[in-house]
Amino acid sequence: MNRLAVLGQPIAHSLSPVMHTAAFEALGMSGDWSYEAIELSPEGFAAGVGELRAGGYRGANVTVPHKRAALELADEVSAAADAIGAANTLSFGPAGVRADNTDAPGLIAALPIPPAGRRTLVLGAGGAARAVVWALLGAGADVAVHNRTASRAQELVDELGGAVIELTDSFLPIGKFDILVNATSVGLARPGASARVVGADLKELRIEADEFSDRLVVVDLVYGTEPTELSLAGSRGGATIVDGLEILVRQGAESFRIWTGMEPPLEVMRRAIRDQQE
Ligand code: ATR
Repeated sequence: MNRLAVLGQPIAHSLSPVMHTAAFEALGMSGDWSYEAIELSPEGFAAGVGELRAGGYRGANVTVPHKRAALELADEVSAAADAIGAANTLSFGPAGVRADNTDAPGLIAALPIPPAGRRTLVLGAGGAARAVVWALLGAGADVAVHNRTASRAQELVDELGGAVIELTDSFLPIGKFDILVNATSVGLARPGASARVVGADLKELRIEADEFSDRLVVVDLVYGTEPTELSLAGSRGGATIVDGLEILVRQGAESFRIWTGMEPPLEVMRRAIRDQQE
């Protein structure tokens, strides 16, 4: 059996097991391949990965909060994982652990237009934004970064490239861009929080709803059981939306390709997670 897992904390609600299991079934591989969720604490991460290797696992996806630790324990690191400073895919082979980052190629694959030469605006400056900025620059896009804390955006741009957009009290000029990517955590459902005020997320992102148009592609890395306010407002304004579930499918598909060498069944993977969300 070729065993795979997603490693994180918390991990119980991960959609990756359902998505990969559906892909294995669709390709007649489920007799030989399995995929499960395993919770590991930050203190137990390296030892946990060691146990999986010793137990004959083939690899793993890695999510919050282990993406940097995954990079650090690897024997071989892809150019993307190295530059981004995070890995979301580990492969265990005779030569050791290889770390890849499929968030970057997954984002590019999810875009409905080629990003080369396009004006793109990335919101955020954390780990997710780093992967997005690196991916877009590598694909030849012109990249601007805005973050609530401008100094973090500046640090990211100094390291990877692109330009910072600073705002004082105005809104972002989203009409000037071809592609807008939300790589902040704005829009994430907060368990136990009271109902959100309509428009609150857009306000935090410094976006005016009437600035959307059919010339804009909006990518939201955030997903939940409901569409995010950004994707709802964008689609009302005529923009093309790539939601967080599509991004999840695309990074999963790239990981699937790395482990199995097979072409991932995208539509099966999409359907599996969307069914799970309903
Ligand atoms: P990740 O590694 O998933 O990207 P992170 O490093 O915690 O997570 O980054 C979260 C991002 O969301 C940051 O860019 C953060 O902005 P700050 O750098 O100013 O903290 C952004 N973010 C979180 N809450 C926000 C809010 N209410 N309004 C605007 N940006 C927010």
